[in-house]
Amino acid sequence: MEAVVVEDLVKVYRGGIRAVDGVSFSIAEQEVFGFLGPNGAGKSTTIKCVIGLLRPTSGRIRVFGVDVEKDPGIAKRTIGYAAQETAVDDQLTGWENLYLQGRFYRLSREEIRRRGEEVLRLFGLWERRNDLAQTYSGGMLKRLDIACALLHRPRLLFLDEPTLGLDVQTRKAIWDYIRKLREEQKMTIFLTTHYMEEADELCDRVAIIDRGRILALDRPGALKAALGGDLITLKFASADDRVPSLLSAIRALPGVRDLRSSPDGVHWIRVEQRGDRLIPELVQLALAHGVPVDSVRLKRPTLDDVYLHYTGREIREAASSREEHVRARILQRRVRR
Ligand SMILES: Nc1ncnc2c1ncn2[C@@H]1O[C@H](COP(=O)(O)OP(=O)(O)O)[C@@H](O)[C@H]1O
Ligand SMILES: [Mg+2]
Repeated sequence: MEAVVVEDLVKVYRGGIRAVDGVSFSIAEQEVFGFLGPNGAGKSTTIKCVIGLLRPTSGRIRVFGVDVEKDPGIAKRTIGYAAQETAVDDQLTGWENLYLQGRFYRLSREEIRRRGEEVLRLFGLWERRNDLAQTYSGGMLKRLDIACALLHRPRLLFLDEPTLGLDVQTRKAIWDYIRKLREEQKMTIFLTTHYMEEADELCDRVAIIDRGRILALDRPGALKAALGGDLITLKFASADDRVPSLLSAIRALPGVRDLRSSPDGVHWIRVEQRGDRLIPELVQLALAHGVPVDSVRLKRPTLDDVYLHYTGREIREAASSREEHVRARILQRRVRR
């Protein structure tokens, strides 16, 4: 049975923002499934609809075969959810946070004690359980947040941007915990991210989502393979008026599949196969047009390139400003208290 089936989900917020615009996908049991997309793509909105926090405008959602609209309890019983903003109260200890979560799910004291120890050990927080959460690092807070989401033994875990704003090392540690959950607890995991490597490393399948629509959905390897050959990134030394005719000449070269340019003068050339053989030709062609080349870079397709291919822009600019924003907000909260 599929763990989650979403059919033609639409969510229009009051005020008319169409945050999710006809999204369909399904998640197999024990799969790690990812939504990859920039800020505002509709990732959180989709999650909130599936777990029953938001009412869809239209569409159908089934969790383990049960229609969420007809039986909203199915979501609460089977789903764990760690929101984009951590729900941890940093004036309480790690253990007290878990305890509150357990009471919220109406677990008995004995269940909370047993299960609480299990998840805290699983996430490497047992020794620190009696310390105030405000003494925890960002990575520990996120781990505690995920541990809380696991307390009622959900079969299905939703992680909304689990590593947002964390440094690379901490992010990798969280990935290890997520892998452990799938392997040791046989859990099905849905995560959203705007980090390419995260989607690439962790997810069995990835949906690229932008402006409320899924643009592509497959295994990361298959998405990369579908792009075909190498990608050449080319920059010219100046924005010369001879550039447009040079670009047309490049487009006409045998072996060139696609050429796209950014407004700031970066040109991406997708080639049929091996890009290295084409580079001398490109440089010669540029010289023949009297346009000096500033830099040439060659690489095999990555998920970044897949993203660029489907959305026409890179995810990084949007992502980094978002991170700054989140960091600033975490700091603000700390200062206020
Ligand atoms: N409660 C809300 N009311 C109105 N608009 C919202 C609300 N939450 C999100 N949006 C808008 O819906 C779109 C999708 O947001 P969201 O699902 O949070 O995207 P993501 O999680 O991919 O960053 C954005 O344009 C956002 O501004
Ligand atoms: Mg979000």
